[in-house]
Amino acid sequence: MIYFDNNATTPIDVRVLEAMLPYLRRFHGNPSSLYRLGRVSRSAIETAREQVAALVLARPDQVIFTSGGTEANNLAINNVPANAAVAISAIEHPSVFEPAIARKSYFRQFSQLAVDDNGVVQPSGLQAMQWVKGDFASIMLANNETGVVQDIPALTAELKTNGVTVHTDAVQALGKIPVSFPALGVDLMSLSGHKIYGPKGSGALVVGEDIALSPQLLGGGQEYGCRAGTENVAAIVGFGRAAQIIMNELGQRHKKLGRLRSALEGLLLDIPGVTVLAEQAQRLPNTVMFAIKNVDGEMLLMQLDKQGIAVSSGSACASAGGHPSPVLKAMGVDPELSKGAIRVSLGKDNTEQEVNDFIVVLKKIINV
Ligand SMILES: Cc1ncc(COP(=O)(O)O)c(C=O)c1O
Repeated sequence: MIYFDNNATTPIDVRVLEAMLPYLRRFHGNPSSLYRLGRVSRSAIETAREQVAALVLARPDQVIFTSGGTEANNLAINNVPANAAVAISAIEHPSVFEPAIARKSYFRQFSQLAVDDNGVVQPSGLQAMQWVKGDFASIMLANNETGVVQDIPALTAELKTNGVTVHTDAVQALGKIPVSFPALGVDLMSLSGHKIYGPKGSGALVVGEDIALSPQLLGGGQEYGCRAGTENVAAIVGFGRAAQIIMNELGQRHKKLGRLRSALEGLLLDIPGVTVLAEQAQRLPNTVMFAIKNVDGEMLLMQLDKQGIAVSSGSACASAGGHPSPVLKAMGVDPELSKGAIRVSLGKDNTEQEVNDFIVVLKKIINV
């Protein structure tokens, strides 16, 4: 099988699995228990916290473990004070968009920031807002569908001087490009374990110095009182180990993915009728979103699946729902072309041979 859907999820790295297994087999202690078995679990969590923090250049006590990117995004958005002015980009993941929409009527002002035809967030929407201290903006670092990377420091510099709280969803960026919490200058940043060869159901919200976070889950006061519930120790350990591996391997992964992606894109653009979306924007090195004139994306996805090739026709959720991608809509992509959109997201273990095989199969399906 050729797995080309690494933005949806990644296979677990065997080194991650090995790190997790002792916490599933032997060390079952509750991290809040005071005896030795409990302390083993506690210590494993704190090691993982250090590993995740080190990867994003944050302090360990700024890392709040969650059940994934979705929970981290919800935690950030649910902390926006009522009466705040709020801006989110028009291309946010549903786990930012939906909680923002759900709370919209409590906000003083709410706006969705437009993107240009390459999927780049336009600063004009931010400049049009009347910002005061405590207001809130959320702009994702890298988009899951197009791979477009936003210049967060440039977009948010002025907001920061006005005391606006800035959140970024860095779920797709992590492990593909360097992600530095201090260099981004944001107050809150969401991460997910299963996009970086870690386990599903792991993630974190990184929280800046001056942010007092209210929990959305109340109970035992775990995670510095920000996220109650007995910790998923094995998943947290796996997330930490996955982060640690990236510290050593990001450079080589980045180079390899960039090489594969440019080979893939070159071959795709040789096919008549192919458009690469967001081609002119700065993008993650692994992601290509393309469309073929007069070819239905869902149909193509199913045909590729029959040949053992997994791709996506948009974000994972959008694929399942069969709705046209809101991201492509925000970019002003012709709806006919959007219907044909296919996302290939490469991973660290893909090869040039797989890229070539994919192109052969694709050409056969569309008869060129
Ligand atoms: C940009 C982005 N944010 C958030 C999420 C949600 O993360 P999780 O699957 O860990 O809940 C995803 C997953 O698809 C994503 O792509």
